[in-house]
Amino acid sequence: MTQSPLIEQFTNAGQGHVFQFFGTLSTEEQESLLAEAAEIDLQEIATLHRTLVAGAEAEHQDFSGLEPAPYIAHPSQVGNSASWDEARQAGEAALRNGSVAAFVVAGGQGTRLGYDKPKGLYPVTPIRQKSLFQVFAEKVRGAENTYETTIPWFIMTSHVNHQDTVDFFESNQHFGLKSEQVHFFRQGRMPAIDTSGKILLSSKSSIAMSPDGHGGSLRALVRSGATQVMEENNIEVLSYFQVDNPLIKVIDPAFIGFHLQNQAGMSSKMIPKAYAEEKVGVFCTQGNKTLVIEYSDLPEDLMHATDEFGQLKFLSGSIAIHVLSRDFIIQMGGGDASAPSLPLHRANKKIPTIDADGNAVSPAEPNGIKFEMFVFDALPFSDHTVTIETQRESDFSPVKNAEGLDSPKTCRDDQMKEFASWLENVGAKVATDNNGVPLNSIEVSPLFGYDANSFATSWSQLANKPDLTESIDL
Ligand code: UD1
Repeated sequence: MTQSPLIEQFTNAGQGHVFQFFGTLSTEEQESLLAEAAEIDLQEIATLHRTLVAGAEAEHQDFSGLEPAPYIAHPSQVGNSASWDEARQAGEAALRNGSVAAFVVAGGQGTRLGYDKPKGLYPVTPIRQKSLFQVFAEKVRGAENTYETTIPWFIMTSHVNHQDTVDFFESNQHFGLKSEQVHFFRQGRMPAIDTSGKILLSSKSSIAMSPDGHGGSLRALVRSGATQVMEENNIEVLSYFQVDNPLIKVIDPAFIGFHLQNQAGMSSKMIPKAYAEEKVGVFCTQGNKTLVIEYSDLPEDLMHATDEFGQLKFLSGSIAIHVLSRDFIIQMGGGDASAPSLPLHRANKKIPTIDADGNAVSPAEPNGIKFEMFVFDALPFSDHTVTIETQRESDFSPVKNAEGLDSPKTCRDDQMKEFASWLENVGAKVATDNNGVPLNSIEVSPLFGYDANSFATSWSQLANKPDLTESIDL
């Protein structure tokens, strides 16, 4: 066997064990292992181990001078309606121009939900059990109808779920979108290591690789050619959202408008945190930079700090909804030597691996470390950034856990509450329980109405109004 230079590099870096079964593998398996190994930056792995694992003090974040980030208040609170109207009009003009695309990050593994398919396939709607992907696709179509435009949709997958995701769209005729307007691309991946810095194998012929976090989306957008597609189609901004949140306004003209008016590279939506420990990142400033401190990193005293009115000081919760400008994506993800790189965060995980004899091991306790980038770490690199307030009940109800908080049940209830509010808005009275959840199931297709206004328009044209004492399926 001729020794590949790659094997030599791994051996010199103390990672020769990756190839310990190489001689026993078929040619195909050898090729695939070499291809995986070629994706790995050994220098980076050594640095990550040194800084984030061996010397855990280096992970220590600097919280000095941290202040709550300013935000534009929603008009339902203390916001200025006239400026929201102007922003909405600016966003609508951009939509009519065709300069806006939707972008969902759907490369995560959804382990908390205990669902073994790509999370976007998860059925979420109250009656029809539409999948998350179908809800988003129909919201895109709803906005296209309103603004008489085409809204391309970029979908980031990972090596784990790419093919299943593409197959799902194909077998559902892209939920009524044109196949050429839906662009799938894979995010990058990183190897997992054990605490001594050794790269973990998932089998004799494969490395335990996992997606590089949603922060990997910036470089993946560039590498995959998505930014090129944007350029060719004069798409200036992406409306960024996570796959777990069917309540999202996939296209929000006011948000897009504020972003454009401020010539921002990256903008964000916030909601006031419901309670101090709520598991959302918080928007802060440090010097003249805006940043998000992840909930797991926020020190207890800051988490509970209050202002002179007794309100949480760090109130501004990040719900992972952003607008990104094409130029900013290229600046961040372009791979240019001068391009800033996002920090990697470590997470201790249970990683299926093999023992010294090559037998499969399913650890009961965390046995290794995965590394991920977070997209909100790009915020401090944006010269201009805007944070706007949104309403939880019309933008945020994620499905994260099988039960309890942020579960399919809470999400279903929140969808029905929103549909009921649209009905109330047109004068229809809906019976609800003490928590405001409708007593009879309600589902509204995004093609009938994707917000209060589009719903009111369709409702006014409806010849036979549904019986409000029964389930409503519009
Ligand atoms: C995330 C945010 C948190 C925010 C909350 C709102 C992080 C670290 N935290 O928490 O600040 O308040 O959402 O709901 O993101 N994804 C990829 N590729 C990856 C990893 C994730 O595409 O490699 C996607 C997932 O498919 C999903 C999204 O990113 O759409 C969120 O990932 P998840 O790990 O579930 O984040 P949370 O911990 O819920």
